[in-house]
Amino acid sequence: MSDKIIIFDTTLRDGEQCPGASMNLREKMEVARQLARVNVDVIEAGFPVSSPGDFESVQTIATEIRGPVICGLARCAEKDIDAAGAAVKPAGERGRIHVFLATSAIHREFKLKKATEEIIRMTVEGVKRARALVKDVEFSPEDGSRTEPEFLARVVQAAIEAGATTVNIPDTVGFAVPEQYAALIEYLRANVKNIDDAVLSVHCHDDLGLAVANSLAAVKAGARQVEGTFNGIGERAGNCALEEVVMAIKTRGDFYGGLHTDIVTREILKTSRIIARMSGLHVARSKAIVGENAFAHSSGIHQDGILKKRETYEIMDPVEIGWGGTELPLTKHSGSHAIKVRLEHLGFTLSAEEFAAFYLRFKEVGDKKKVVYDDDLSALVEDSMFVAQETYTLDYIHVTSGSTTVPTATVRLKKGTETLQDSSPGNGAVDAAMQAIDRIVHRSGNLAQYSVEAVTHGRDSLGEVTLKVDFGNGDLITGKGASTDVIEASARAYINAVNRAEMLHGRRQAMAAAPI
Ligand code: KIV
Ligand code: ZN
Repeated sequence: MSDKIIIFDTTLRDGEQCPGASMNLREKMEVARQLARVNVDVIEAGFPVSSPGDFESVQTIATEIRGPVICGLARCAEKDIDAAGAAVKPAGERGRIHVFLATSAIHREFKLKKATEEIIRMTVEGVKRARALVKDVEFSPEDGSRTEPEFLARVVQAAIEAGATTVNIPDTVGFAVPEQYAALIEYLRANVKNIDDAVLSVHCHDDLGLAVANSLAAVKAGARQVEGTFNGIGERAGNCALEEVVMAIKTRGDFYGGLHTDIVTREILKTSRIIARMSGLHVARSKAIVGENAFAHSSGIHQDGILKKRETYEIMDPVEIGWGGTELPLTKHSGSHAIKVRLEHLGFTLSAEEFAAFYLRFKEVGDKKKVVYDDDLSALVEDSMFVAQETYTLDYIHVTSGSTTVPTATVRLKKGTETLQDSSPGNGAVDAAMQAIDRIVHRSGNLAQYSVEAVTHGRDSLGEVTLKVDFGNGDLITGKGASTDVIEASARAYINAVNRAEMLHGRRQAMAAAPI
């Protein structure tokens, strides 16, 4: 059995399914590029049949990303499998179709209304159809961990006979506990006669907070692929956090003797940050490996120990994860070459048009802040890189506010060559700015969530606003914006949400006109 644990990243599929985490194509491409840099083995890029936008992003990732296998998800249905096959085709030999079908009694009876024999027949047909399109086919018996082991073994055996090259055992609802999940993996290894003809994979959800523990127990029991997401984002409580699995295997080599992953661990922190920015899902300060406090020692005893010998209180070298790199703060006098080099170092690839839009924002902020740190740069890229694709951009904002006046905002937006302006009073300066924007764009947004964070330290730090808005149809649209002025950052974030709503509307119209 191989010593390598294959790392299958589903940030762009299961991760993106998480409420409020939806990303546009530009954001997905930034994530995919970073996933290639951190060297995951497989990128599950989306669920191609689910929308033209998903199809397009899987196809673009399959065309542009070199290195990892590019995978598209499909139900056991002809049109799903054909859409996934077409979307991953540009990846050539690196294209994978991931077919899934629920197998547990509860799903068979209430969701699918299908008997066991029908499930086996559909599995075989689905896998064979996928194999006719690509050589690399993964099969997942959904809710596998709650499926009767004897029946699960029959399905897995049939899937491998039909040509599945990877069989994945999902703990779809996060019900498993480590000893039992490991025992299931051992059972399959002992009772499926062709099990060695495929890679045995695990996919755990975190409903009981056990996704990483379950995945590691399964690895110990013989699984050789682990599926998950960076930062553990995903449906409900999320997926298995890949950075934790990778660092556990590396740090506890004594226990996982001989096992390894090919992850470039120094890229982990950058990956976590890019995903947090692109998805709008912040990482908790105390999150293992990538949280702000993961290597912060505040107690005197610990600090003293660390100064005497780091290993007294640190089980991992933070540098190995990407912490503590030397920052070279930029100023408004920094030339475009130095800025480009720094952006590349941070993992951003900007086209000439995007860089031009970014550079204008950099100069504006450079005038207000003495130094621009790496985190400022990342926030500004995020804030400016969609300008070229945005319907509305902020041209001007003026707000009057105070304890004895009615807050009022005047906002001027650009839409192509048009200049649009309006004013509104509001229940506070931020509300006034949003109402003025609503009047210009002829939408009415309901603010469902709002948060502001200082990007770096000090009074002149950039403030980064993340918000979620419902424009009346129930979709929660994320918007992000950064500025040294919190009201301006809020207006930018709101305009960003308006632009995403416009984009979504455009996509839906396109889908209605040309369904897959
Ligand atoms: O959780 C799950 O069962 C899934 C499958 C599609 C693999 O995400
Ligand atoms: Zn899942």
